[in-house]
Amino acid sequence: MKIAIGSDHGGFALKEKIIKFLEENNYHYKDFGTYDAASVDYPDYALQVAEAIAQGDYDRGILVCGTGIGIGIAANKVPGIRAALCNDTFSARASREHNDANILTIGERVVGPGLALDIVKVWLESEFSGGRHSRRVEKIREIEEKYSK
Ligand code: RB5
Repeated sequence: MKIAIGSDHGGFALKEKIIKFLEENNYHYKDFGTYDAASVDYPDYALQVAEAIAQGDYDRGILVCGTGIGIGIAANKVPGIRAALCNDTFSARASREHNDANILTIGERVVGPGLALDIVKVWLESEFSGGRHSRRVEKIREIEEKYSK
């Protein structure tokens, strides 16, 4: 599984911890920045990671900002992206099993690093359940198509 990861300054410290976790667990990843704690704009990083997933260069994405909200809103503007804000492990599992989320967003200012790494682990190890959930994900795609004209 190829993972694209990014953050703004509000998520930078947690992104570095997640990268360490990915390395320790032999995940293949690319860090799209930001690369230090200087103030930046989260849509710039959301766009890079979301496009990398939408184009098929990477399988899954992880985006971190202060709350996980702004960076997820921006990522979800890219067609084909289903970014899910998960600040707990129940949501992380459900976002994969029910929504086939292809980007996980987390808020560094919301969850502690221990919980955040558990969320990442559960999210990466969970799979889409398909079945009735496929029909619902397809309806999300249809909404996207309706408004893409
Ligand atoms: C940056 O201060 C902060 O607004 C950002 O990290 C994020 O929380 C936005 O949703």
